[in-house]
Amino acid sequence: MTVNSTMTQELDGRLDALVAEQEAIFVDRQPRSRQMRERANGHLAGGVTSSWQITSPQAIWMSHGSGSRIIDVDGNEYVDLHGGYGAGLAGHAHPAIVEAISRQVARGTHFAQPTETAIDVAVELTRRFELPLWRFTNSGTEATMDAVHLMRAFTGRDLIVKVEGCYHGHHDSVQVSVMPDPPDNGPADAPVGVVSSSGIPRAIVEQTLIVGYNDLAGLQRLLEAYPGQIAGMIIEPIMMNAGIITPEAGYLAGVKALLHAHGALLTFDEVKTGLTAGPGGAIGVTGVLPDIMCLAKAIGGGIASAAVGGTEEVMAFVADGGYEMVGTFNGNPLAMAATHAMLTEVLTDETYRRLDALSDRAADGITATISEFGLDAHVVAVGAKGCVVFQNEPVRDYRGFIGLDDRFNHAHWLLQLNGGVFLPPWGKMEQWLISAQHDEADIDRFLANFTALAVALTR
Ligand SMILES: Cc1ncc(COP(=O)(O)O)c(C=O)c1O
Repeated sequence: MTVNSTMTQELDGRLDALVAEQEAIFVDRQPRSRQMRERANGHLAGGVTSSWQITSPQAIWMSHGSGSRIIDVDGNEYVDLHGGYGAGLAGHAHPAIVEAISRQVARGTHFAQPTETAIDVAVELTRRFELPLWRFTNSGTEATMDAVHLMRAFTGRDLIVKVEGCYHGHHDSVQVSVMPDPPDNGPADAPVGVVSSSGIPRAIVEQTLIVGYNDLAGLQRLLEAYPGQIAGMIIEPIMMNAGIITPEAGYLAGVKALLHAHGALLTFDEVKTGLTAGPGGAIGVTGVLPDIMCLAKAIGGGIASAAVGGTEEVMAFVADGGYEMVGTFNGNPLAMAATHAMLTEVLTDETYRRLDALSDRAADGITATISEFGLDAHVVAVGAKGCVVFQNEPVRDYRGFIGLDDRFNHAHWLLQLNGGVFLPPWGKMEQWLISAQHDEADIDRFLANFTALAVALTR
């Protein structure tokens, strides 16, 4: 069977029929979610608490979670491989997180003054990610916003470089070319910056230059075209908002060398990769150390927590007041308690061994099904995360990703949901996340559902 490029009419029809059939089952299983949506419509804008919770055919309202499972308001239980968009590396109600948070709640949850746990967290982050100095924020957006401000403040330059197809949160400077539609985004070797959200002034979009992932020559052209004007570059070292796209050999080291040769800084956005790609994140996987790194999502064990790390030189600028990195809840004791427990008690060497074994089980099982049924597809897995790409050829940048037929991922998502496994919505963009509390039986349910998809596509 071939998909995408040489899609047959028969497969095309089968795919549409499968999506329609599975959407009907999906809605049937969730009458209470539908009631919730109707009730919410009069009170929550759009009936949800974040716009990306509006998914087709309807948002799933959750009741509670425990271990590797979540239960929706209709009582359906799912193996949770969504992991709250990559934040759920601890799984739900992990005893170490529950204990750490409970202890801190009883001792007060907010002082807007530093507490000793923040030092312990910073020490552990340095052990994992090598960067010596840290500050804390509350979300990935705040972390990347501070990183961009810091690159600009440190260098005294306004322009930044961003990779086409990377998402770094919803502040103005990075809401450019997140998911641009061709042909608005121009030629691949000179992408045009396309605004990704309403409400972003054109003048700010113009301060963000766009380059393709894995395109060193393109970066060099930009640095030469704007001599002395580029403050730095922000990049997901392993792209994780376009499925998963890995860096080619030498790419990240080349990026760093080019930027430094032009007096510019390098920021790794490890909001998704940090801790999930391995104990030392993408830095550990690739061996490239940036000037600044951002962490969020998984570090808080399910509590809002984020961090910005930097070299002595860059963070001295913060220490001296050259850039004021501020926030009422920065380093909040509850977030620090959860982050500390996550780093020291949940994510042990033994946990990473288990995560690797479960990840291999998932990737090997899906790969075996792909070859058994002759699907045009492959698996990309990095640490606890992975995704199925519904074409044979590997994807090396956003241009190679954007043409993938998302109906395959939507059909996969629906079949998994209806079969008791919660994957992230938004199809081809997102990944599965295996947590510290998943086991072999969870992965086997996931694999059985994937086989059901293969059968449905080829029967
Ligand atoms: C790579 C990356 N950076 C930053 C963010 C923004 O994080 P948050 O949603 O916590 O603001 C995200 C969120 O998905 C992300 O994937």
